[in-house]
Amino acid sequence: MHKNDLKDILLTKGESELQSLYKRAYDLKCKNLGIKLHLRGLIELSNICVKNCYYCGIRHDNRSLARYELTYDQVLESALFAHKSNYGSVVLQGGERTDDRFRLKVAKLVKKIKEISNGELGITLSLGEQPADVYREWYNSGAHRYLLRIESSSQEIYYRIHPQDSNHSFEKRVEAIDNLMKIGYQTGTGVMIGLPYQTVDNLVDDLLFFKSKNIHMVGMGPYLVHSKTPLGNVKLDTDFGDARKIDMPLKMISALRLLMPNINIAATTALQVLDPYGRELGIKAGANIIMPNMTIPTVRSKYTIYENKPGVNDDAEITKSKLERNLNDMGLEIGWKEWGDSLAFKTKE
Ligand code: 5AD
Ligand code: SF4
Repeated sequence: MHKNDLKDILLTKGESELQSLYKRAYDLKCKNLGIKLHLRGLIELSNICVKNCYYCGIRHDNRSLARYELTYDQVLESALFAHKSNYGSVVLQGGERTDDRFRLKVAKLVKKIKEISNGELGITLSLGEQPADVYREWYNSGAHRYLLRIESSSQEIYYRIHPQDSNHSFEKRVEAIDNLMKIGYQTGTGVMIGLPYQTVDNLVDDLLFFKSKNIHMVGMGPYLVHSKTPLGNVKLDTDFGDARKIDMPLKMISALRLLMPNINIAATTALQVLDPYGRELGIKAGANIIMPNMTIPTVRSKYTIYENKPGVNDDAEITKSKLERNLNDMGLEIGWKEWGDSLAFKTKE
C-alpha cells in the first residue's frame, strides 16, 4: 500500500463506506489472527513521572494531582486477580521513573508475577524511556513485551507537544524503540490522533513509521484534552471533517490492519471516552487487543492522563464483568488463558 492508498482510506466518508472499510479490516484480522480477541489486565503502578509532556495529566509539573505508588503486595494482588480470572497477560504501566529503587522493584515484581502464575501470565511493561541496560534487566527478569508510543512520528509535532529539552528528545525516543526491538521484546508503539497541528498526511506518516520499524504491536487512541496541561489551553484546530470524533481513530485502526495484517492492535481505553462501546468498535474495525483496568480502586482516579477516564469508580471485578457483557452484546469472543502474542513477532525469523 502506498501513501495515497492510506490517505484515501483515512479520507473515507459516509456511513456505508465506513462500515465496509471496518468490515474489510475485521475480516482480515479474523482470517490472519482468528476470531478471538485477547485481554491484558492493566495495572497502573504509579502516577509519578519525571516528564512534562504538554498533553498529559500526570506530567511532573501538575501540582494539583496527589501522587501514588502501589506497594509490592498491591501489584501482586491485582496480578493474582488477573491470573485467577483466566487472563493471559498483564501490563505494568506507570509514569517514567529513573530511580534505582523503582527499577529494582519492577524487576522483582516481574519475577514474582511469573512465579505466582507458574509462568502462565505474560508480562508487558509500559514504563517509558529507559537506558538499554534497564530494558535488558527487566527483559531478563521475565518481561517479554514493552509499549512505548512515539506519540507522533512527525518530529515537528513531537517538539510542539513536548518541552524542548534533553529529557524529551525525539531521537532518544526512536532509539529507545530500536533498543527494545534489538533486546528481543515484542515491541509496541503508537500515536495520539487528533492532536493540535496534526494533519491527515501526518497520520499517514505515522502508519508508515510503524511499518518502517516492523513493529509488533500498536496502541493508538484519540487525543483527549486535559484542562490542567499546557496543551489543554491550545485551541484544537484539528478537524478531520468526520461526522464523529471516533471515526478517525477507527479508520486509523482499519488502515493499519490492512497495512500490517499480522500485528497486535489495541482498542484503547481512550476510545471508550468517545463512545461507551468505543473499544468494541475498535475490535470491529480490526483491532484484536483490549486492556481492561485491573488497578485497585483507591488509586484509579489519580491515574488521570486525560479527563473523563471511564471506570475510575469501578474495581477490577466490575470492570471485567462490564467488558464481558459489552463484548457479548457485540458477539465478540475472548481468548482466555492465551498470551495472544503478535503473529508478526512469532513469524519474524
Ligand atoms: N489524551 C490521550 N492520550 C494521552 N496520553 C497521555 N495524555 C493523553 C491525552 N491527553 C497517552 C500517551 C501516552 C499514554 C500513556 O497515554 O500516548 O503514551
Ligand atoms: Fe509521563 Fe507518559 Fe504522561 Fe509523558 S505521557 S508525562 S512520560 S506519563
